[in-house]
Amino acid sequence: MKEHLERLWWKEGIVYQIYPRSFQDTTGNGIGDLQGIIKRLDYIKSLGVTIIWLNPVYTSPNDDNGYDISDYRGIMSEFGTMEDFDQLLEEMKQRGLKLVMDLVVNHSSDEHQWFVESRKSRDNPFRDYYHWWPAEKGIPPKRWSYFDVEGNAWKYDETTNAYYLHYFSEKQPDLKWENPKLREEVYNAMRFWFEKGVDGFRMDVISFISKDTNYPELPQEYEGNFVPFYANGPNLHEYLNEMNNEVLSKYDVMTVGEAPGVTLKNALDFVDEDRKELNMFFHFDLMSLDRDGDEVFMMRKDKWKLTEFKKIHTDWDAVFSEKGWGSMYLNNHDFPRSVSRWGDDSKTHWYNSATMLQTFLLTMRGTPYFYYGEEIGMTNIRFQNITDYKDINTLNRYASVKNVGGDVSAFIENEKDASRDNARTPMQWDTSKNAGFSDEKPWIKVNDNYAEGINVASQENDRGSVLNYFRKMVQIRKDHLALIYGSYELLAPDNERVYAYTRTLEEDKYLILLSFSREREILTLEQFKGQNAKLLLANDDAVVHVKDGVFKVRPYHAMLYTID
Ligand code: NOJ
Repeated sequence: MKEHLERLWWKEGIVYQIYPRSFQDTTGNGIGDLQGIIKRLDYIKSLGVTIIWLNPVYTSPNDDNGYDISDYRGIMSEFGTMEDFDQLLEEMKQRGLKLVMDLVVNHSSDEHQWFVESRKSRDNPFRDYYHWWPAEKGIPPKRWSYFDVEGNAWKYDETTNAYYLHYFSEKQPDLKWENPKLREEVYNAMRFWFEKGVDGFRMDVISFISKDTNYPELPQEYEGNFVPFYANGPNLHEYLNEMNNEVLSKYDVMTVGEAPGVTLKNALDFVDEDRKELNMFFHFDLMSLDRDGDEVFMMRKDKWKLTEFKKIHTDWDAVFSEKGWGSMYLNNHDFPRSVSRWGDDSKTHWYNSATMLQTFLLTMRGTPYFYYGEEIGMTNIRFQNITDYKDINTLNRYASVKNVGGDVSAFIENEKDASRDNARTPMQWDTSKNAGFSDEKPWIKVNDNYAEGINVASQENDRGSVLNYFRKMVQIRKDHLALIYGSYELLAPDNERVYAYTRTLEEDKYLILLSFSREREILTLEQFKGQNAKLLLANDDAVVHVKDGVFKVRPYHAMLYTID
């Protein structure tokens, strides 16, 4: 194995992401909680995953479901107490599971004590924890905001006659990393959790933390697309390096940055081991594939192509082939369910699609991240009415469309595929009321298809279920180092139906064939003529004799072979 491919727990790990609000309610308030996660730890362990990433559980007024934090050392009261958290961590450790928390430090809540102070007066000691523009200088240079109804990231605040910056909602003011005191506060909060024994952080929009505090006019090239501008702050790498020196390097932890705006070109600036910044990050190339140009929440009109999908993954694999390490994901709390988005969730193709996508994540290089419910093939809910949506992103964009007299029904059609709420519906545990998530009305509607086999209990007892396929495939990845560290080679690059590749580590070679199509395909791979191959796993009838190099591929078929 090459030297840079040092064996490390977070490279060999398999991550299971939990959106706590939607996982398991134990108090009867319709909201998931920490005791609910504790209750389900044996189940999580049984999946074979090794790391849990928890979306924010800190004290928050919940303008953006916990991504607006008012106390970085407190636990959200709806989720429980610090005792519950300590118990969760302890019980995870007993089961050999690692815990990764969310770190949300591009912004805080406007209800955080720092901001409460900061907005009081211009000479308040906390003034410089946030970005302020004094109104006597005129209207501040344009900045765009994700969740603002008017798309304006500057909010006027009367008390001090100044504007503050908020890349997200007006209740999420951006923290001023340029202030060393603020950075030290963040590092101290990180140390607090590491001292408790937490194993790492997923860092929210970490690419956005550095800002030019002269707040220049937006350069022309970024007009209409702020993300690359936000992601290229002047001191970003200095801060990440400092954070590594001051905190991360002192513990055996993993880091994964959420990195909108980071590209193949600057990828290694973040994760090249020699630079001592982060371990991994989530790029957005796949998440943008079916979207309308720079509009990450609008669906594109034509369908995405498999060749584009392959290219994204092939290019990213190449970037990390010598240095750094990748992270593989198909959905999370910000994007629709993977089976509905990248597969076909109709009755005919749902099983094959869900298991094929699992096979993909578990046979690629890079740490795989699964999102709760992905192991049982949970699907998009496709809400029809705006009143069913809970997400600030959908609600505020709806208000924007309405305010300008736009087409609200077209907007709702778009949200059926694009909305983040598609992925936030309650975990489907069984066929009892509310899918076993809560005895009371859940904070967001449960997907009715829990009654039709998409639930844990039904799949638990079915050897041929999506859930049990997932467990088998997880075990296969763990048993074959080549699937983790092996080099990747794309085959049949122009084929629009089948994604075929090999993974090779020294003598061990694997062939993976994945159909992303409703059509059957006969695929010829000349290089396998006369080769001996053994089928390790397939989600449908598979060709066992590959000697002639011809593969009959069914819709959404997944096949994994070892090659002699
Ligand atoms: C990215 C998070 O994943 C998303 O859920 C959140 O709304 C924004 N960052 C703001 O924190």
